[in-house]
Amino acid sequence: MSYPSSRPRRMRRDGFSRRLMREHVLTANDLILPVFVHEENGRAPVPSMPGVERLSIDEVLKVGERALELGVPVIDLFGVPDPSAKTADGCIAWDEDGIVARAIRALKSRFPELGVMSDQALDPYTTHGQDGLIDDSGYILNDETLAALVKQSLAHAAAGVDILSPSDMMDGRIGAIRDALEAAGFVHTKIMAYSAKYASAFYGPFRSAVGSAGALGKGDKHTYQMDPANSDEALHEVGLDLAEGADMVMVKPGLPYLDVLYRVKQHFKRPTYAYQVSGEYAMIKAAASNGWIDERAVAMEALLAFKRAGADGVLTYFALDAAQWLREAR
Ligand code: PBG
Repeated sequence: MSYPSSRPRRMRRDGFSRRLMREHVLTANDLILPVFVHEENGRAPVPSMPGVERLSIDEVLKVGERALELGVPVIDLFGVPDPSAKTADGCIAWDEDGIVARAIRALKSRFPELGVMSDQALDPYTTHGQDGLIDDSGYILNDETLAALVKQSLAHAAAGVDILSPSDMMDGRIGAIRDALEAAGFVHTKIMAYSAKYASAFYGPFRSAVGSAGALGKGDKHTYQMDPANSDEALHEVGLDLAEGADMVMVKPGLPYLDVLYRVKQHFKRPTYAYQVSGEYAMIKAAASNGWIDERAVAMEALLAFKRAGADGVLTYFALDAAQWLREAR
């Protein structure tokens, strides 16, 4: 009788040997929770992201407490201003009493040990929904935008944020922000750069959540976010951001860009993060609510895939659920 010369199934037969040979694990320490903080009272659901809500600062504090309990190290704040406060230059983005600055102060005074991160870009705050300042033709101005991002970063740093995360994709912004932080004495403020951020259709539900979708209209972000066709260019972008002073780099979106994540981690071997974006979340939620997939199993498999591809952590709207599921699985 002939038989296979190798039997990989031998190690898969028993639970103990499957555990023994497991190469990658996901823990609560790998998770960052994005949170939308609005000027209104209480919570308001985001229809395109079932289970995600825009929160008042009081509600953000409850979420912060839950993150601490579950061992999720960081929450990431995205501001949702009143629509009437939007301007062409998005100047409320750098208001020292803006919604994000107030949320940072509230979180850091209540839970000093919770890591607090915030997004730097102008899109929630501008009437045109672009991440930067625009000229008369609608082109997004690079160097003028850098000055705005520096002001926004300093406002957040002054409020006590632990991690800045510029998501705008302007050239040179990491260096400009790092110089400004050093000059102002904020030597401990970390930067997670959205280094390889693609012009992706997977951001749709997020734009509804922060209220920039209507403002952006038929506009797109192809003149600054990366072309989905490229991956060598991602290495170039990551190299620039590290040289300019980024402590951590990010690839975004997540699952459709695992190859980019893998290349970045292999090449630079620096702290590297993936963003499982709103569209990825919405797809899982939608299929699960139709009974087509098992939400928990699919979400956990996707999060583990980021670890396997080389991520040191993942920004995910599933962060609290995943931490809870990990706890139940112990
Ligand atoms: C804005 C920003 C976006 C996301 C994070 N910061 C959207 C965009 O660039 O249009 C997307 C996050 C998500 O889809 O979950 N600068």
